[in-house]
Amino acid sequence: MVEISVKAGDPNKQRDDAVVLPLLAGRKLTNAGKALQEATGKAIPQYLRKFDHLGKFGEIGLLYEVEQVFTQRVVFIGGGDEKKLTLHHLRRLGALAARKLDGSGARDISLYLPELNVRGASLADKVQAVAEGVWLGLYRFEKYQAKKDEQEGKRELRAVTIMIPSRRHLAEAEAAVRTARSVCDGVNFARDLGNEPGNVCTPAFLGEQALSLKHAKLKVTVMDKSAIEKAGFKGLLAVNQGSDKEPRFIVLRYQGGAKDDKPVALVGKGLTFDAGGISIKPAAQMDEMKFDMCGAAAVLGIFKAAIALELPVNLLGVIASTENLLGGSAYKPGDIITSYKGVTIEVLNTDAEGRIILADALAYAAEQQPAEIIDFATLTGACVIALGGEASGLMGSDEAMLRKLQTSGDHTRDRAWPLPMYEEYQEQIKSSIADIKNVGGREAGTITAACFLSRFVDELPWAHLDIAGTAWNMKGSDIAAKGATGAGVRLVMDYLQRRA
Ligand code: BES
Ligand code: MN
Ligand code: ZN
Repeated sequence: MVEISVKAGDPNKQRDDAVVLPLLAGRKLTNAGKALQEATGKAIPQYLRKFDHLGKFGEIGLLYEVEQVFTQRVVFIGGGDEKKLTLHHLRRLGALAARKLDGSGARDISLYLPELNVRGASLADKVQAVAEGVWLGLYRFEKYQAKKDEQEGKRELRAVTIMIPSRRHLAEAEAAVRTARSVCDGVNFARDLGNEPGNVCTPAFLGEQALSLKHAKLKVTVMDKSAIEKAGFKGLLAVNQGSDKEPRFIVLRYQGGAKDDKPVALVGKGLTFDAGGISIKPAAQMDEMKFDMCGAAAVLGIFKAAIALELPVNLLGVIASTENLLGGSAYKPGDIITSYKGVTIEVLNTDAEGRIILADALAYAAEQQPAEIIDFATLTGACVIALGGEASGLMGSDEAMLRKLQTSGDHTRDRAWPLPMYEEYQEQIKSSIADIKNVGGREAGTITAACFLSRFVDELPWAHLDIAGTAWNMKGSDIAAKGATGAGVRLVMDYLQRRA
């Protein structure tokens, strides 16, 4: 990853390969822009007119060989209407600037972005947002492709300097960059795991990835099939029946807080491929079901970030992982499973497998008596229909927890939106032959899936994030390449930091 540091100083004096300055709507210069204008005489407005740069948000204009400055390139990036700016705009500007200059020949660049005013944001917030934009925006998953850029002689960015208005704030700005680094490492780790194809990212692979996280305060246990049988995770075993690959049950314990503090439990759905089982999915886009382990990836990403930040909280991570395939021993519609908790489940659709393996993972987590439980799962297609890619579905048992999670979602732009969990919805998963059935009909599919999960968390404060629509993205955005997004990591890292 590109290095990011913080500095204060005038733009005309920077010796970087490029100096990036915001230009507000109506070609309005910010302080750094004005300083540059003074140093260069009349050059800047003339240039800007020549390049038709209006200062519209995201618009980029490069000026070469500007007189009286040291840098090779003066880059103006449109900030739009300053009154409307949010932290996410800064994140996007950081990403847009870095992407534009990466491979351009400029290797060291400085960004005068935190001087933009964002209502309610501190300088540290703004620096963190810009740094996140750079690191998230530059992420690419290209390990399976010949190195095109290198062949074409393109040079990657090497160092980004985030310029702040005064040296007085250097320490807090540097701390903000360190936070951004840890969080983005976690997000990009989750993205890497999600983007790995199903033939590489197997349950065993996820176990190895969990074991690769190393810290004095972290203990990781990976159960193989025989340990899972001994423990009695029969929901996980039932879903695994159709697959030739062994399942894994992964437990992570991080002791960052006081010894007796109850942990926050983070539970993840780790379907390394979901073909639907006997209730097989249609062929179109079935390849995307390699992303059905993104809940597990979010949990691992959060552990990676929490460790790097030495977050002063205790965490319990629980991941259930298997494939959902159609082998000769596959579980079938009509089967009844006795889950780890003892609750019996009538299987009416083998494609509603996530809730079955989460039943065991949640029950195990609840047994450890955590302070609260948060689960992450690409659980329902219905959630994609309801919220699309803009927000994860947010449900659970504890109003205060849900409100805080929603706030963290807004703050980080890793958003989540609440759906109701009225008692009445529980009717839809009543079974005539077992305690519950694994499908609740077409209506309110995201909610009835959450109702199913609610049966396994006892009375504990619990929140469920349905990341089916947010975990990956086939279009790409300013801050996320096409593919896995790392959804949930930034949201819950912010939540845990506020909690600590
Ligand atoms: N992993 C899928 C949910 C999913 C589908 C996520 C599409 C993202 C995109 C899950 O296991 C599933 O198949 N759910 C079924 C449940 C239904 C059978 C009750 C669904 O949503 O169709
Ligand atoms: Mn499924
Ligand atoms: Zn699934």
